Amino acid sequence: MTYSKILGTGSYLPKKILTNFDLEKMVETTNAWIVERTGIHERHVAADNENAVTMAEQAGRIALEAAGIKPADVGMIIVSSTTPHMVFPSTACLLQEKYKIAGCPAFDLNASACAGFMYAFSIADQYIRTGAIKNALVIGSEVMSRVIDWEDRSTCVLFGDGAGAVVLGASDTPGILSTHLHADGTHKDVLYLPLGSGKSPNLETVKMMGNQLFKLAVNTLGDLFDETLAVNGMQKSDIDWLVPHQANMRIIDAMAKKLNLPMERVAITLDKQGNTSSASIPLALDQAVRDGRIQRGQILMMEGFGGGLAWGSALVKY
Ligand code: UT7
Repeated sequence: MTYSKILGTGSYLPKKILTNFDLEKMVETTNAWIVERTGIHERHVAADNENAVTMAEQAGRIALEAAGIKPADVGMIIVSSTTPHMVFPSTACLLQEKYKIAGCPAFDLNASACAGFMYAFSIADQYIRTGAIKNALVIGSEVMSRVIDWEDRSTCVLFGDGAGAVVLGASDTPGILSTHLHADGTHKDVLYLPLGSGKSPNLETVKMMGNQLFKLAVNTLGDLFDETLAVNGMQKSDIDWLVPHQANMRIIDAMAKKLNLPMERVAITLDKQGNTSSASIPLALDQAVRDGRIQRGQILMMEGFGGGLAWGSALVKY
């Protein structure tokens, strides 16, 4: 039986950091409110010459190096982004050009923002399991700062920019144990980003019914954990790490409690990076792998939840 395994991870964060104190000068907010209600202290913001492609390129190169895979050997590129540099060519095709490789399938995936990485991860896993490809480069890359209304305090304090990447490769042993994807369009109004009416791919700005979204996230993710564990015949006590989407520390805290995990067993980047939408899961994974907290053989519960609504999880033996 063929499984897919995480061979390497990488990330890229723009140099510019915007702190809560910087935001205090921009909108009517306070560091205390942001920290208490979200857990965020600062976030990275892309420079004018950075975009989803440049950030994905860096994160991808680092992940490939960690995996010991040459760009020429990549069997598929999937980039999850709701803030791509262009509508087309896709970010993934633009990456192919940068890596000087051609031929393998390469596409972007928009699963309504924050759940996107779990969708991309799951698709790559399916292709590897069936033997169609040997490895895949899966990236989440987001420039949320370009789709934020910087005068709307209810959203501008939440988001950040960055890219996270994972290389998946075929393995005789697990690997990714299972992935689970869901969506429910009836909640389309709680988080959305409309297209503008102009000629260019001009977008409006993110609209969010934060409180409603918060409750939906907590309830939905609890059920998702139950489903993920049941399919694998596992207990909460089998989980070593939670690698969650980073939207709000109170949501992450509630998720850790649902899995009976102490916060030391949760990969958290939210405090320093804010919500980087579909980049947040691979960013959190990469950080915990690189600083040695996540070790080979450990069991990871990964989860994403966002607009759409769309949500997904993966149970992974790292
Ligand atoms: O990534 C996709 C998934 N995303 C999520 O799941 C996000 C889920 N939602 C949340 O994280 C939280 O709902 C927020 C952080 C967005 C908001 O926190 P909240 O505790 O739900 O606050 P709220 O929206 O109920 O607002 C409470 C108060 C309001 O004032 P009043 O009406 O009580 O007078 C807001 O106007 O806080 C006010 N407020 C702020 N005050 C200072 C909202 N934003 C701010 C702000 N600074 N930045």
